[in-house]
Amino acid sequence: MTRYTEIKQQLMANSKTWLVTGCAGFIGSNLLETLLLLNQKVVGLDNFATGHQHNLDEVQTQVSTQQWKNFTFIEGDIRQSEDCIKAIGTKNNRVDYILHQAALGSVPRSIVDPILTNSANITGFLNMLVAAKDAEVESFVYAASSSTYGDHPTLPKVEENIGKPLSPYAVTKYVNELYADVFNKTYGLNTTGLRYFNVFGKRQDPDGAYAAVIPKWTAAMIENQAIYVNGDGETGRDFCFIENAVQANILAATADLSGKNQVYNVALGDRTTLNELFDSLKNALQSNGVSYQNPPVYRDFRAGDVRHSQADISKAKNMIGFEPEFKIQQGIDKAMPWYIDFLTKK
Ligand SMILES: NC(=O)c1ccc[n+]([C@@H]2O[C@H](COP(=O)([O-])OP(=O)(O)OC[C@H]3O[C@@H](n4cnc5c(N)ncnc54)[C@H](O)[C@@H]3O)[C@@H](O)[C@H]2O)c1
Repeated sequence: MTRYTEIKQQLMANSKTWLVTGCAGFIGSNLLETLLLLNQKVVGLDNFATGHQHNLDEVQTQVSTQQWKNFTFIEGDIRQSEDCIKAIGTKNNRVDYILHQAALGSVPRSIVDPILTNSANITGFLNMLVAAKDAEVESFVYAASSSTYGDHPTLPKVEENIGKPLSPYAVTKYVNELYADVFNKTYGLNTTGLRYFNVFGKRQDPDGAYAAVIPKWTAAMIENQAIYVNGDGETGRDFCFIENAVQANILAATADLSGKNQVYNVALGDRTTLNELFDSLKNALQSNGVSYQNPPVYRDFRAGDVRHSQADISKAKNMIGFEPEFKIQQGIDKAMPWYIDFLTKK
């Protein structure tokens, strides 16, 4: 039996209380759905900066009435420390585990508005850490990022070897790791960082200037719009299906002390180029009856982008029992019907 299967059984038998920040966003709403299906109690915090009520509404349709009653939503902002305290609780009445996802994602957004990104990703993060250590929560798991590898040339990426950040966003995610480590050493708070590598799947927002490549291209193909490739298309990424990222969060929160106070790569350990991704998405849509015939349009490389990204995931495998269940093509095949349904209903 895998550690993930074992932990899920334990959680079903002995329910815990979780806080998911950013629960109206892509990763947060998927965490919420899985936890509710496991009969957990969940507090959610979100200010709808980039998240949506329709994500929460959709989760409600995926769980039972009783499971939905285990969810408490707080509309609030991590930049306000009182909202963090309200969501986490206090020493004698607090959540057990925190999965901190709320942040402003996107490298380009951070280049346009570094102050805004800093306020959510650093001030907000610090507020969460302070409230978590005051309440003495068992585990504080947070969304770190592969952008922390910056200009380090080695592939695959190993947790210990990082370069210089290439964007304000990457700075914020690295500062999160520094603060988390200091809060462990100084206050004894258990913190675990998950360096996500291009997570994708249902409910990842296809709209807006800062949409990620998979939802953006999928939407463009369904709507028969042009697909723009930044650079020559040989840029490589380690795309990670959402259910693998959910697994990593649950394993990290419930790990024993030897697996805590670490930073882990969360990915597949594979590399897919943008040209390969274009073909995969096109073929998956074709299998769902959507035909896209246009060739991609190549344009300049984008500032702040890392050329290649691929993770070594052995640390998470060895220390918390991470075993990604979905390869990229399986993830794309699972996500595609959702995108077709979502975009055709719009
Ligand atoms: N998606 C990826 O591939 C990826 C890769 C690396 C890291 N991450 C990190 O994972 C986390 C989740 O990303 P996502 O892809 O689900 O993005 P998302 O934008 O869908 O979700 C983020 C959520 O946080 C909320 N939020 C933002 N600022 C807030 C604030 N001040 N107070 C309360 N809520 C706030 C948003 O409204 C949104 O619901 C982020 O920390 C992101 O930096 C994501």
